[in-house]
Amino acid sequence: MTKTTTGERAGYMFNNATPEARNQLRHLAQILDPDTERALFELGIGSGWQVTEIGAGAGTLTTWLADQVGPDGHVTAVDVDPRYIPQGPNVTIRAGDIREIELPAGSQQVIVARLVLMHLPEREQVLADLTRALAPGGAMVVADWDCTWRDMIRRSPSPRATELIERFQDALLAYGESRGADMGWAKRAPEVMLRLGLVSVVSRIESRSWRGGTGICRLHHSNSIQREAELIDGGMSRDDLAELRQVLRDPQLMLSGYLMHTTIGRRLASA
Ligand SMILES: C[S@@+](CC[C@H](N)C(=O)[O-])C[C@H]1O[C@@H](n2cnc3c(N)ncnc32)[C@H](O)[C@@H]1O
Repeated sequence: MTKTTTGERAGYMFNNATPEARNQLRHLAQILDPDTERALFELGIGSGWQVTEIGAGAGTLTTWLADQVGPDGHVTAVDVDPRYIPQGPNVTIRAGDIREIELPAGSQQVIVARLVLMHLPEREQVLADLTRALAPGGAMVVADWDCTWRDMIRRSPSPRATELIERFQDALLAYGESRGADMGWAKRAPEVMLRLGLVSVVSRIESRSWRGGTGICRLHHSNSIQREAELIDGGMSRDDLAELRQVLRDPQLMLSGYLMHTTIGRRLASA
C-alpha cells in the first residue's frame, strides 16, 4: 500500500465530507457530463445494460446512466464517500474504496471511471481488476485530465492575475502529487489498457475555454476553498487566495480546462 509522507494511505486529494465538496462535484458534472454522455451514447448504451460507475461523485452521471439502461438494466455506483449520489430503483450504491471492492467477474457491459484513477497510486492494478469485471465485448471508459498540459490562460486581466493562477496551479497539483496523483496518467491509459488485453482502444482528447465565473473557473474557485490550508502550505497567502478568487470571477478572464482524455477499450467478445 502506498503511503504519503504523513503515513496516511495515499489517494484522493479532495474530500466529499468537506463543506465545499458539493459545489466542486456539481461544477465537475456541469463541465464534463455532456462529453462523457456523448461517449457513452456512441457506445450504444441502452435498455437492459449492466453498468458500473467508479467514483460517482455528484451522481448526475449515475442518474443519466440509470435512465439509459431503464428498469431492465442496472447501475452500480461505487464511491468511497457516496453521500451525494441519488438513490434510484435500478441503482445500487456501494460505499467503499475501489481498491478493496470486488465486482462480479464478467458481469458489466460498461465500466466508467472519470477522474478517479489519476488519483490512485494503485491505478494499474485497479484497472486490471475492473477489466476482469467486464462482460465479453464490454467497454471500459477511463476519463482523466492530463494536468501536465499547463498552457491554460487564453486571456488574463493582468500580469498579477496570471501569476496568481500559475502559483495556484503549481501548489494544487504539487499537493495532489504528494497524495499519489499522477497528473500525466491520462496519456498512459491507452498503453495500459492495451497491455491488459483490451481491444479497439481509442482516446478522445477534449478541452474548451471558460470565462471567469463559469465552468473551470468556478471549479478552481471551489478547489481553492476546499484545499485552502494545503495551498497556504504550498506558499500562497490568504490575501493571495482572496485575490485569486476575485480573478476567477472576473469575466475578463478566459481559461481552458485541462485536457480530458476519454479512453475506451473493449474486452474481446469471445473472452
Ligand atoms: C474528482 S471526483 C470525480 C467525480 C465524478 N466521477 C466526476 O468526474 O464528476 C472523484 C470521486 O471519486 C471518489 N473516490 C476517490 N477515491 C476513491 C476510491 N479509492 N474508491 C472509490 N471512490 C473514490 C471521490 O469520493 C469522488 O467522489
